[in-house]
This record gives sequence, structure tokens and C-alpha cells, in this order.
Amino acid sequence: MRYLITGTAGFIGFHLAKRLLDDGHFVTGFDGMTPYYDIRLKQRRHAILARSNGFRPVIGMLEDKDALDRAAELGEPDVIVHLAAQAGVRYSLENPKAYVDSNLTGSWNVLELAHKLKPQHLLLASTSSIYGANEKVPFAETDRADEPMTIYAATKKSMELMAHSYAHLHQIPTTAFRFFTVYGPWGRPDMALFKFVDAILNGRPIEIYGEGRMSRDFTYIDDLVEAIVRLMQVVPAPDNRAVADTFGDTLSRHAPFRIVNIGGGQPVELMRFVETVEAAVGKAAIRVMLPMQQGDVPRTFAAPDLLQALTGFTPTISVEDGVKRFVDWYRAEMTAA
Ligand SMILES: NC(=O)c1ccc[n+]([C@@H]2O[C@H](COP(=O)([O-])OP(=O)(O)OC[C@H]3O[C@@H](n4cnc5c(N)ncnc54)[C@H](O)[C@@H]3O)[C@@H](O)[C@H]2O)c1
Repeated sequence: MRYLITGTAGFIGFHLAKRLLDDGHFVTGFDGMTPYYDIRLKQRRHAILARSNGFRPVIGMLEDKDALDRAAELGEPDVIVHLAAQAGVRYSLENPKAYVDSNLTGSWNVLELAHKLKPQHLLLASTSSIYGANEKVPFAETDRADEPMTIYAATKKSMELMAHSYAHLHQIPTTAFRFFTVYGPWGRPDMALFKFVDAILNGRPIEIYGEGRMSRDFTYIDDLVEAIVRLMQVVPAPDNRAVADTFGDTLSRHAPFRIVNIGGGQPVELMRFVETVEAAVGKAAIRVMLPMQQGDVPRTFAAPDLLQALTGFTPTISVEDGVKRFVDWYRAEMTAA
């Protein structure tokens, strides 16, 4: 198969592209190498992908339709996976424009491209952040998610809505996944795990928000990639509606469009997460307790039932295992450089 993946120099795009290349597929990787965090990490990820003959990188911004067209001409994709985005909850308070440019304009350009190319399946990355401060747990895809707490969440929700309209108008089979705090090797330096490990190893204090009482449904990267690869095979169509009394399928009645959570449904309190990191590093952290930050949500907690019903898979890797794998990677790749 031929895939066009946006965001291949990013954490998740890199891992997904690697998996597909290892499975013998062709991947055109589109990425703007934005300076949100250290570009050298992005270049290193692309350099690893470039070891595969099936990989074709295209460096360009989502906002540039011509660049996207070039990627499509080069790769002639059967399937498009749109992962590139301005990510991060806290940075959206500082620089909302980056989110509007990448996640609204950029995602709309990807939808236009899909309209032109008519791929077998278009898959898009949304986020658990769109559940906002919902109190009903676990978060089911059918729950109301109309009260975003940040412009990041608002742009991702808007992307889902735009994608539904394109799926309806142009019959583009579309799956939007809502990811829950993804972590693992080659992860993002702006996320808690990377920051904690870096600080503990270097004797710097770590900042613990919400007095450590916030909880997150952490998803290990290999579990996430497995879920995505399986969902690629489940092309939204009227004949694959998942039926159960306990949960609702989000398959639209008006379009080949579906929303699926990817999370294990086992949230971990931040304090336990810190202890897990300390155990994996083998050193206590200097802890600085701080209140919740603006835009933070108290918890994320995925209902994994729809993912399980559609793919037979639910994430299984424990936070203890996953954090240990991250720390091993960090020591091998980030401390030697
Ligand atoms: N990592 C998580 O926990 C998490 C959770 C929920 C949702 N997501 C979503 O998953 C996707 C991938 O996230 P990630 O963690 O790999 O982030 P990442 O920042 O590591 O990767 C995103 C990539 O997109 C590229 N990019 C950003 N804006 C661009 C633009 N306008 N044009 C071209 N390229 C651009 C960046 O250079 C980067 O390489 C994103 O859509 C993100 O919102 C991630």
C-alpha cells in the first residue's frame, strides 16, 4: 500500500511510518519541521526513516497547498493519515495563531487534498483534550464534547467537524482518532515524561501541577500504532456499524465517518506517575508542587469499548513497562549526544 502521512518527523508520525515501512509499505512523509521543539530530534527521526527504501520525505507546511500537492504526486497514496499539527495544551495559551494556522487551515488543506485524491481511507488525529473538563468517566466518543478549555482543543474539535462535512459531501471514508497522552521512545520534549526524566537525571526540580492529583490515561506508543494500523482496515461503511447495548458507535448516519478513542481506560494519578518515573530512573525527584495551570483538565479517561469492538484490540502496556522503555531509550539516545 502507498501511504501519505503528515507529521512523520513528529513523535507519533515517526513511529507509524516506521511500522508501515517495516511491514513493506511505501510512505511519503510530509512535515514542516516546525521549531516548536528541537528540530534536531525531528531530523533524527526522519534520518531513521530514510534508511528504508520505501520512504519519501517532503518538507513543507500544511498551509502550502502546492507542497501538499507535490507530496501527493510523489506518493500517489491509497491512504492518508493526517498527524501533523500544532500540538501541546499549554503553548496554545501563548501562541493561539500557530493552532489556527496548522490545525484549521492546514487540516482543511488536507481535506481538500483528500477530496481531490479520493483515498480509500482518510485518518485524522484528534485528542482527548476535546472532552474538556467532562465529569462523566470514562469518556465515551458519544459524550458531549462541546466545551473545549483551550484553543488547541477547539481547533481539533473543529477539524473533526470539517472532516465530517467533507466525508458527507464527497464520500471520503474518514476515521478521526482521539489520542490519550501518548508516550514512549522518541517522544516529545514538551511532555511530562521527557521533562521529568531530563530534570531528574540532571538534578533539576520537576514541576508537578494540580498538586499531583490530576490523572491521565497514558497510552504507550506501540499500543497506539497497533490500534491505528488495525483501524486503517476498518473503513467506515454502513455495513460495519458496531452494535452493543453498553456503548454507541459514532459511525455517522450521514457520512462514512467515525470517531474512535485510542486509550486503555486505565488512568494514572500524576503522583503515581512521578513515583514510576523515579523508580525507572533510580533517583528521587526534587518536587515542586504547583496549582493546576490554565487550560489543564483534571483527568482524561478513555472508554476503549468502541476500539475493542472494531479492532479486537485494547492498549495493554502498563505505565511501569512503558516508562522503563522510555528511560532506557533516553539513556541510550539522549544522554550520549
Ligand atoms: N502525543 C500525544 O500525547 C497526543 C495526544 C493527543 C493528540 N495528539 C495529536 O497527534 C498528532 C501527532 O502528535 P505528536 O505527539 O507526534 O506531535 P509532534 O509535535 O511530535 O509532531 C507533529 C509534527 O507535525 C509537524 N507540523 C506541525 N505543524 C505543521 C504544519 N503547519 N505544517 C507541516 N508540518 C507541521 C511538526 O514539525 C511535527 O514534526 C497531532 O495531531 C497531535 O495533536 C498527540
